[in-house]
Amino acid sequence: MKKKIIAANWKMNPSSLKEAEKTLRAIIRLLPAKSGSLPKTIIIPPFLFLRELKAISLPSGFSLGAQDAFWEEKGAFTGETSPLQLKSAGVKYVVIGHSERRALGETDEVVGRKIKSVLRNGLTPILCVGENKNIRKKGLAAAKNFVGNELEKSLKNLPATTADRDFLIAYEPIWAISSVPDSKNDTPESAAEMIVFIKKAAAGRLKNLKVLYGGSVSARNAGGFLSQPEIDGVLIGGASLKVDEFAEIIGLAG
Ligand code: PGA
Repeated sequence: MKKKIIAANWKMNPSSLKEAEKTLRAIIRLLPAKSGSLPKTIIIPPFLFLRELKAISLPSGFSLGAQDAFWEEKGAFTGETSPLQLKSAGVKYVVIGHSERRALGETDEVVGRKIKSVLRNGLTPILCVGENKNIRKKGLAAAKNFVGNELEKSLKNLPATTADRDFLIAYEPIWAISSVPDSKNDTPESAAEMIVFIKKAAAGRLKNLKVLYGGSVSARNAGGFLSQPEIDGVLIGGASLKVDEFAEIIGLAG
C-alpha cells in the first residue's frame, strides 16, 4: 500500500488542555512499535491547544493542523485567527470549508479567499467538499456536479505559482458525517469514484494533490477506504478521539 494520510479532526473537543494532552500522549503510546512504517498523521485540535500539543515530542510523520484560518494576515478582525499566527504556532495544515463551517454561513467565495491566504503564507490547505443528502438522492452524477461546482468556485483565480504546492482535498459527503442524523459512511467504491472525479477536475490547477475521504470512518471500515488506490487517506472526526480506535486505524494505514 502506498503511504496514506490520516487526519484527525478533533472539532470543538476536548474541553480542557489537560484532556487534549492526555489524548495525544495516549495515541502516541498506542502506536505500532515500528515507527518507520507510520503513515503521515495530521492532528487537528482546537486552536487553543496547538502550542502545547506542539511541545509534546511527536513521532516522525506526525504534524499539526488547524480547523480554519482567516484570509487576512493581521488587523482589526475580532475573533479571527490568521494563517501567520498559526504558522508561528507550528501548524503545517489548515482545514478550509468544513461542512460544519459552511452550515454556519461560510460561502465558496470565502473558502476561495481563505485557500489563497493559506497558500500565500506557506501552509498546506485541506479543502473540504461534499454534497448533502438531497443532492445525493438524485444520484452520483448530481453529486459530482455539485462537488465540481464547489471546486470551481473555491479554486478559481489560484495563482499559477501555487500549482506545484502540496494540496489536500477531503471529500466529505455531508450525509456521511457521524454527527449528522441517520448518517452512514459512503462505500469505498463510490468514494473512490468521486475522488477520481475530483482529481480530474483539479488536475489543471494542482499538480501535487492528494484526496482523502471523510465521513464516519472507523476502525471497522477504514481498511476498505485505505485499500482503494485512488483514496490517498482519511479525515476522521468522532473516531479520532477514541484513542484505541484511532491508533488501530494508524496501524492499518502503516
Ligand atoms: P466523522 O467526521 O468522522 O465523525 O464523520 C468527519 C469530519 O467531519 O471531518
